Amino acid sequence: MHAQRSGPLRPKVLITRKIFEESIAHLARHCDVDANQRDVPLTPHELIRKLQGKQGAITLLTDTISDAVLARCPDLKIVSNVAVGFNNLDVKAATERGVMMTNTPGVLDDTTADFTWCLILAASRGLVDADRYFRSGRWKGWGLMQFLGRDIHGKTLGICGLGRIGRRVAKRAKGFDMRVLYTGRTRAPEKLERELGAAFVDKRTLLKESDIVTLHVPLTPDTTHYISTAELTLMKPTAVLVNTSRGPVVDEKALVRALREGRIASAGLDVYEREPRPASGLTRLKNVVLAPHIGSASMETRLRMSNMAAENCVAGLTGRRPPNLLNPQVLKGKYKRFTKVTPEQK
Ligand code: GLV
Repeated sequence: MHAQRSGPLRPKVLITRKIFEESIAHLARHCDVDANQRDVPLTPHELIRKLQGKQGAITLLTDTISDAVLARCPDLKIVSNVAVGFNNLDVKAATERGVMMTNTPGVLDDTTADFTWCLILAASRGLVDADRYFRSGRWKGWGLMQFLGRDIHGKTLGICGLGRIGRRVAKRAKGFDMRVLYTGRTRAPEKLERELGAAFVDKRTLLKESDIVTLHVPLTPDTTHYISTAELTLMKPTAVLVNTSRGPVVDEKALVRALREGRIASAGLDVYEREPRPASGLTRLKNVVLAPHIGSASMETRLRMSNMAAENCVAGLTGRRPPNLLNPQVLKGKYKRFTKVTPEQK
């Protein structure tokens, strides 16, 4: 527990897992804070027990806030997720129960795009395997035919989802003189296409023509297994697949088979279908670079995300509109339950 004045009017907030002290201090100026200082997720049972009687929650993407959880925590007014992705939250159920939900968009786009490029580069040039080889002491000196990767410059980059992060990835491709294709539900404005030098194509064309395919779609029922056997079969045998979005966007078992059989050349993954467990056989493959979901993990960005989540929560509990409200309907009409609407929220 954090040092705080308690009083009947101070809302109670649970922080489910370790976040930055600076953010906890901000929350503690306005709320009574119960902070789980361990960096392991609470069990579903612990989560519900600790949430009961709390008006606010700071959640991490490892916490599932389902309708069943909300039903058992009737005092909750706001769930503030420290992530841009919110597939761990049932926003529809929260809206029906009049509970606000927020995320942390914008602040991690460049950092995640940088990391996408780390994976593109590492997977194309076999960097991690080469590092392992060097450390093992097996390297006996330079050889013309050693660790032959694939060039990146001058190739075709295929971006699935030209949202905030996809755009940043496209921008960085300019330095590599690449042809950039993109696909997605909607076409970007022409001006943006021109700025990024990106051409809109259908998914099939993108998969067939790209040397590197990178995924930046949100996880929804429509994008679950967006890449599976059929899609992997369309890709070039020399192609690289990179995923920094959400694990279930790729059918991981199908990917393991494709990598093992050489139907694509290599992959770089930051996210997995059943985190933290990889699909069977994945870690035995040499042609895949595996990161433990660290796309947004720079010191600066994670601090910004943590502070942003704290501010969303404080705003929601002190009668202000949370800056990153996912379900603004809760402030109006039939969904309005707890929220005291101040003039600036309307
Ligand atoms: C990280 O994966 C995020 O969604 O913020």
